[in-house]
Amino acid sequence: MNIPKTKVAIVGCGLVGSTTAFSLVTQGVCDEVMMIDINEEKAYGEMLDLKDSIEYLNRNVKVLKGTYADCGDADIVVITAGAPPKMGQTRLDTLEVSAKIAKSIVQPIMESGFDGIFIVVSNPVDIITHYIKELSGLPKNQVIGTGTAIDSARLKNFIADLVKVDPRSVHAYSMGEHGDSQMVPWSTVTVAGKPFYDVIADNKELVGDVDLDELVYKTTREGWEILDRKGTTYYGIGTACTGIIKAILHDENKIIPVSTYLEGEYGEHDVYAGVPTVLNRTGASDVLEIHMTPGELARFKESTALIREYTKKIMEY
Ligand code: 2OP
Repeated sequence: MNIPKTKVAIVGCGLVGSTTAFSLVTQGVCDEVMMIDINEEKAYGEMLDLKDSIEYLNRNVKVLKGTYADCGDADIVVITAGAPPKMGQTRLDTLEVSAKIAKSIVQPIMESGFDGIFIVVSNPVDIITHYIKELSGLPKNQVIGTGTAIDSARLKNFIADLVKVDPRSVHAYSMGEHGDSQMVPWSTVTVAGKPFYDVIADNKELVGDVDLDELVYKTTREGWEILDRKGTTYYGIGTACTGIIKAILHDENKIIPVSTYLEGEYGEHDVYAGVPTVLNRTGASDVLEIHMTPGELARFKESTALIREYTKKIMEY
């Protein structure tokens, strides 16, 4: 008899990787979490520290320290290793360094016999995810970026604060690049099913005059607001990554705006972008094509055009 176990490998034991691991362990998402870093002592220390939390948790998650060669039986490999942007840089500015790191990681992992799902966090995430798809040779459903999952959470927070509701009662996506060119299809945003346009029209005394472009700008800048104050972000992105992993390992068919390879959806081909994606045990199972206005679609295409431009660059490395 063979009761299958679920194993997630975390590559990169910095703040994002270790927070993702802690989130997986505290939520009991999988049976095993394996810590990998080029600094093996760091990986070992993270493993020891994580093991100390098991006594006070609901589930005995096995925490390991491993190497790329140990990924053959992993269901998911999370790539967080990369160069965080410096002050004044954009995520796109870290392209070359992150590409080199990605290349040094993927080859040994594939040599381990890994045939699971890559979840890429490293920025610029849309472009690095595409690069890892090409390097690994895995099918598109098995190579996913965190994309605009974190941006959508931030957008929902801003809307929720404005109309005084739980962010989870807001239905909104930020789409396109996980970066400055992302866009929000406002015509599809609802609060408990009520179109957002109607919510702000019916609640003038509560919300006043709402500047939608300002809300998009705040969403786009939120990562920097955090980075300016604490040096980097990790709770939001770590928990978003855990939500993506949970949707996959628990076969949830949950729709999350992750960075997915487009093959005709939204009229786009051969590009990764943050779009509402059905996630289940096969990975990125399907792309939901929400109906955007012509203006919204044009802004989405501006974003994918930028992603495409940088993707072309990385393939030359
Ligand atoms: C963020 O926006 C790390 O790019 C990620 O928090």
